[in-house]
Amino acid sequence: MTEEQMIARLKTELNEHRFNHTLGVAAEARRWAPLYGADPDKAYVAGLLHDCAKNFSLDRVREYCERYSVKLDPYCMKEKALIHAFIGPAVAKADYGVDDEEILSAIYYHTTAKADMTPLEKVIYIADMTEPGRKMEQSAELRRMLEQGDADGALIHGIGSSICFVIKKGSLIHPDSVYALNFLIENRRKSN
Ligand SMILES: [Fe+2]
Ligand SMILES: [Fe+2]
Repeated sequence: MTEEQMIARLKTELNEHRFNHTLGVAAEARRWAPLYGADPDKAYVAGLLHDCAKNFSLDRVREYCERYSVKLDPYCMKEKALIHAFIGPAVAKADYGVDDEEILSAIYYHTTAKADMTPLEKVIYIADMTEPGRKMEQSAELRRMLEQGDADGALIHGIGSSICFVIKKGSLIHPDSVYALNFLIENRRKSN
């Protein structure tokens, strides 16, 4: 499937807000891919598809899980906001013809992050927070850090503020987010 075909399908699958966010993330991921050492073309496709399952009903999630033998992460049962990321790779594969494991993994980890992320996983995580439609206070700070070339600093700040947001909401923190943050902080200490 070409990028244009993906965009045309996404337009039918996502609400207007999510569709615009998606285009923003794809462009933002392509822009910052070199800073993270990721492939800009793959970053664009991963950005396009990162939220491809965001507007799925629970019935449709169940249907995909059965059809493609997806075993959802146990945290999905407790935090529904995570489902779209964990089902995303199956949808990207089945409906958009993507079988690049690097892209599928960047979709999978775009909400939680994880320890020792690949360059593509990193850039999709950060682009999701910095695309121009994101008006949160921390997005401006993250953009400033990216412009200064502080790739991992922006991730530490981004994952940290997501964890704070989750705590404030009274939701559960996925352990991978904690592992991601600790991994980056330890790495930064080693390099100082
Ligand atoms: Fe998402
Ligand atoms: Fe997103």
